[in-house]
Formats: sequence, C-alpha cells, structure tokens
Amino acid sequence: MASIADKGVFLSRSLAYIFAISLLFLILSISLLFQFGDNSLVPRSFYNLIVVVNTSAYIKHDDNANDNDNDDDDYDEFEHKSFSTPFVQSCCNKSSDVKPAMFCDHNQALLKVFMYDLPASFHFRLLGWKGNQNWPNVSNLSEIPKYPGGLNLQHSVEYWLTLDLLSSVTRDVSRPCTAILVQNSSQSDVIFVPFFSSLSYNRHSKNRGNGKISLDKMLQENLVKYLKSRNEWRRLGGKNHLIMAHHPNSMLLARKHFGSSMLVLADFGRYPVRIANVDKDVIAPYKHVVRRVDVNDSPSFDERRLLVYFQGAIYRKDGGMIRQRLYYLIKDEKDVHFAFGSVSSGGVRKASRGMTSSKFCLHIAGDTPSSNRLFDAIASHCVPVIISDDIELPFEDVVDYSKFAIFVHSSDAVEKGYLMKLLRGIQRHKWIEMWERLKEIAPYFEYQYPSQAGDAVDMIWHAVHRKICCLNDKGVRRRNRYRMSQKFLNS
Ligand SMILES: *[C@@H]1O[C@H](CO)[C@@H](O)[C@H](O)[C@H]1NC(C)=O
Ligand SMILES: *[C@@H]1O[C@H](CO)[C@@H](O)[C@H](O)[C@H]1NC(C)=O
Ligand SMILES: *[C@@H]1O[C@H](CO)[C@@H](O)[C@H](O)[C@H]1NC(C)=O
Ligand SMILES: *[C@@H]1O[C@H](CO)[C@@H](O)[C@H](O)[C@H]1NC(C)=O
Ligand SMILES: *[C@@H]1O[C@H](CO)[C@@H](O)[C@H](O)[C@H]1NC(C)=O
Repeated sequence: MASIADKGVFLSRSLAYIFAISLLFLILSISLLFQFGDNSLVPRSFYNLIVVVNTSAYIKHDDNANDNDNDDDDYDEFEHKSFSTPFVQSCCNKSSDVKPAMFCDHNQALLKVFMYDLPASFHFRLLGWKGNQNWPNVSNLSEIPKYPGGLNLQHSVEYWLTLDLLSSVTRDVSRPCTAILVQNSSQSDVIFVPFFSSLSYNRHSKNRGNGKISLDKMLQENLVKYLKSRNEWRRLGGKNHLIMAHHPNSMLLARKHFGSSMLVLADFGRYPVRIANVDKDVIAPYKHVVRRVDVNDSPSFDERRLLVYFQGAIYRKDGGMIRQRLYYLIKDEKDVHFAFGSVSSGGVRKASRGMTSSKFCLHIAGDTPSSNRLFDAIASHCVPVIISDDIELPFEDVVDYSKFAIFVHSSDAVEKGYLMKLLRGIQRHKWIEMWERLKEIAPYFEYQYPSQAGDAVDMIWHAVHRKICCLNDKGVRRRNRYRMSQKFLNS
C-alpha cells in the first residue's frame, strides 16, 4: 500500500517538475521571440518574414531605370518594385518610402562580405562586357552588362548577388542593407568568390578546337590556383568562402576542392554529401522564366479552367521515369494539360498562359530533383504539386511550403487514380488559401537589380547569415511537407 502511495507522490512530483520546466521553456522562448537584438537566438530574418505578409504593398516606380530587358519580350520581370513594410526598417532603419541615395552603414549591415577582386574574365566579361576595369560602374544602369535572356537566366543568381554587393558601396543605389562589401577580409563574415560559373558552363564548356581545353575548364583551373594562393583561403581552408555553382553541371572540375566552402546551389542531386550538403550550403531559387503575374491581376479559382498543368522534357533515366508513368495515368483527363517538350524561349509565352489558367502546376523530378518549373508555378500563382522526393527548397527553414504547395511522394503519384483524387478533392476555399499565400511569398523568389527587401537576393543573404550563425535548418519543415496531402485525402 505504502509503496503505491509513494509511487503516486513520486508521479505527481515528477509531473509538477515537468510542468515547471516546460513553463520555464515557454517563457524563455517567448522572451527570445520578442527580443530583437543581435544576441537573439532567433535569426533576425525570422522576424522580417513574420512582418512581410502584406505584399500588396508594392510601390510601382515609373522610372525605366531598371530597363534590363533582353531579346525575348516574354521576360518582363525586371520590374522595379519594393516593399513598404517594416522589413526594411528592422534591418537598416530606413523609412518605408524608398528614397534614392540611402547609404548602407557597415555597422548596420547583417553580413559583411569580402569579395575577391577577380579579373573580369571570371565574371562580367563572360557576358560580353567590354569595360577595361574589373567591375562595371553599377551606379549607372546603362553601364551594367545585361544578362543573356532565354533559359540561361534560370541560373543567374551569381549575377544578381555580385551586382548587389557592388552596389552596396555606392551612394546612388537604394537597396536593403543586408550585405555590405568590406575591404579588409579579416573584418568580413564571409568571403565571396565572384565567378559566374553557371554562365561559364552554359556558354563556354565546348572544347575550343586544336586540342585546347574549354574556357570553362580553364577558368575553373585558374580559379582553384588563385584561391589556393590566397591567405584568405589558406587561413581556414576555404571554410568561410561563398561559392556559386547553381547550374548542376557548373564547377564540375573544381567542385572537389570546395567541400569545406559554402556553396550556392540549385539542389544536391549531382554532389556527393562530403562536397555539398544541407548543413553548410545554401539552396537558391531558379530565376523563373515565365511572366510574373501581378498580385492584383492573378486569375482566380474560376478563371483558371484547367485543373493541372505540366509541360516539360521527357526523361528516360533515373528519377525522370516518373514523368512517363504519370503521363499515361492522367493525360486523358479532360481538364489536364500534360505535354512533353521543353519550354524553349519560344514556348515561354505559351507556358506562361498555361500556368496562369491552371489551378495546379506539376513539378515532377526530371534528370535533377529541381527545375525552374516550381518557380514558374510560383510566379504564375499556380499551386505547385511537387512530386520530387529529393528536392531541396530555398529558404525552407523560414518559409513553410506546405502552406502553398502540395507534396506527393513519387510512389503515391504513380498509383492509379491517386493524384486526380487528391487534386479534385481540394476544396475551393483551401485552394484560395494557398493561392493567397502564393501571392504573398512570390516576391521572395524574384531576382532584380537593385535588390529590394525580401526579394531573392535579400533572402539569400539572410540564408547565408543563418548558416554562418549555425542556426541550421533542422528539417522541421521538411518533415511537414506531406502532412497536408494526407489531410486532403482524408477529408
Ligand atoms: C496591405 O497593404 C495595402 C496598402 O498598404 C492596404 O491597403 C491593405 O489593406 C493591406 N492588406 C492587409 C491584408 O493588411
Ligand atoms: C531608427 O529610426 C527611428 C525612427 O525613424 C529613430 O527614432 C531611431 O533613432 C533610429 N535608430 C537608429 C539606430 O538609427
Ligand atoms: C559611375 O556612374 C555615376 C552615374 O552615372 C557617375 O556619377 C560616376 O562618376 C561614375 N563612376 C565612375 C568611377 O566612373
Ligand atoms: C551612363 O553611361 C552612359 C553610357 O556609358 C553614358 O552615356 C551616360 O552619360 C552615363 N550617365 C551618367 C548619368 O553618367
Ligand atoms: C584589417 O583588419 C585587421 C583586424 O581588424 C587589422 O589588424 C588589420 O590591420 C587590417 N588591415 C588593413 C590593411 O587595414
């Protein structure tokens, strides 16, 4: 009897302990959440993301200073826009109406970046720039070399990040004060390697006659030599270096030297874990190639007459098999557009029209887990249906994709009837909820110059900062990915 009573006392005591400890934790986390100082354990960007919820607050500038257009008139996403939200204020204490000639103070910037003064042949000369210095004058928009249009643009993160850094030290460009260039590498948080590796791969990976190696290979070899000769590199073996390799085939030769550096990638599909992994690297969005739909102009549920849209290349190897199997499963459904053929620049307009007239847009693994299709869907406010088990998603530690995308395991998707039952079962109000969220988060995936608070460039700098501060993505969101589709099926 006594022992049972003891046990009862013991139990209620331990319960009380647990309760007290939980309460303590709760109070602690709440106090941390509201502590906006630099010492906070929660990244500053986290608050920014909470704050940036009203993206209907675009300011449209009618200057055409940003007229960075190219030969394809389907591309008009270079629109100059900005947030009028406290996002800017929390970072740079700028007032919300964006004035020109705001100067970014070293001490206010989130991230101090040292950039190697690499010769222009590693970056802007690859764009055909003819200037005789290493860097273009970014204060004068007409002197900034244009990025080639077409599908090259998908992997242009290198161009936007570099331009943003250059503009961080000019007084003429108004931009968020997230990253700033510093001259002294020992005062920097990260060392930026301005090699346009994706462009180099896309444009210059063909061998150049009479036994000469390709320009892309030569640049990679020279880059590795250059880095290994630098004290900045030797000090930590490249550990604090930020290296961009967004195209899955870029840096093929050099990447084996970059296992300790922080890479900016599209996914980890073609990398061994010791070279690239989620603990140290940053996943950056593709630049979408379809037209960006304006928030006020986004076709509604009823205006989107197609249920499902997919347009893409057909793949016969690896994960790509699933495209073929899905094709035979759903191609005959009346409200489904499922067609093969890559979205060449001529087809961009058609793809854009297709995605804006669909409620759901499929993102199916191809020869790599990621592609620009997800970002095209987001720009079209078409709810993405992600069927790609190994996909890595940009900013997933701060952006909850399950609020605006549907995740389907490949093994489920190829079951007869599964996908159509799932999508037809999603009710109008649920779809509208996801569509509203899509409209809010779409700006996070916009690359532009000058950069604006909460755009892709700004989000990448924040992601780099989070990696440096060891506030790594613990995969919480990742585990939640498939929760929603389960709910839809059960309801
Ligand atoms: C968003 O901002 C706009 C313009 O500032 C305002 O008119 C609108 O009411 C806001 N919407 C919400 C949901 O706060
Ligand atoms: C930030 O802006 C507010 C209001 O404009 C001002 O009162 C405050 O002093 C500024 N803080 C800093 C650190 O500049
Ligand atoms: C860069 O361009 C700006 C604006 O056109 C001009 O004022 C400035 O002198 C230029 N800087 C250099 C170094 O040429
Ligand atoms: C900007 O550059 C262009 C072309 O080099 C030049 O014609 C123009 O005068 C420059 N603008 C300013 C404001 O310096
Ligand atoms: C760079 O910064 C370090 C540490 O703050 C300092 O010791 C060094 O003198 C600086 N170098 C130059 C060239 O200013």
